[in-house]
Amino acid sequence: MREALTSLNHVHSATLDALSMAMDFRDQSTSGHSRRVADLTAGAAGRMGIKDLALVQIEHGALLHDIGKLKIPDSILWKPAKLTEEEWRMMQRHAEFGYEFLSNVEFLKGAAELVYSHHEKYDGTGYPRGLRGEEIPFGARVFMIVDTVDAMIYKRPYNRPVSFHDAAAEVRRCSGTQFDPNLIEPTLTYLSEHIPEDRIYSEATCR
Ligand SMILES: [Fe+2]
Repeated sequence: MREALTSLNHVHSATLDALSMAMDFRDQSTSGHSRRVADLTAGAAGRMGIKDLALVQIEHGALLHDIGKLKIPDSILWKPAKLTEEEWRMMQRHAEFGYEFLSNVEFLKGAAELVYSHHEKYDGTGYPRGLRGEEIPFGARVFMIVDTVDAMIYKRPYNRPVSFHDAAAEVRRCSGTQFDPNLIEPTLTYLSEHIPEDRIYSEATCR
């Protein structure tokens, strides 16, 4: 029985990884972005005392955070220019589309909550529900810090990478507005210990 469960967990993991790689490819994210933010979000949450199923759900939610973009038309997802008001409203719907996908799968229902909330902001100005403070699931509040730092320190088609120190300063600047002030330092400390050294001290390649 234990062997069957272990093997089922491996199948789940491999399937979710394949799905996340497909998402990264379509979204033109840096290679491995989803796996990276999943590991770092789960690692930071684990350091803050989350464990067992709750931790697995955070990892799965972080891994599949943008899965709802599968339902966003290419013309919007890949538009090289600024989105119109209507296109932006459609793009924002990826959070609820992701929630709809995952909440239909029994073992991903917990992860669906993080996916639904991954664009909320601490001060209530995010989307889709305008949740504020601790109404936003804990995993989503950690994820937002990790995802922001990852987006800044790795090059994407539409931005230039900055050093970890600059990314951390930006996160601290948004304390209490975008991010949970209580989670910033523990998350940044975890990140500083776990992201590659060349991303921390890459000042020369930044600007
Ligand atoms: Fe997203």
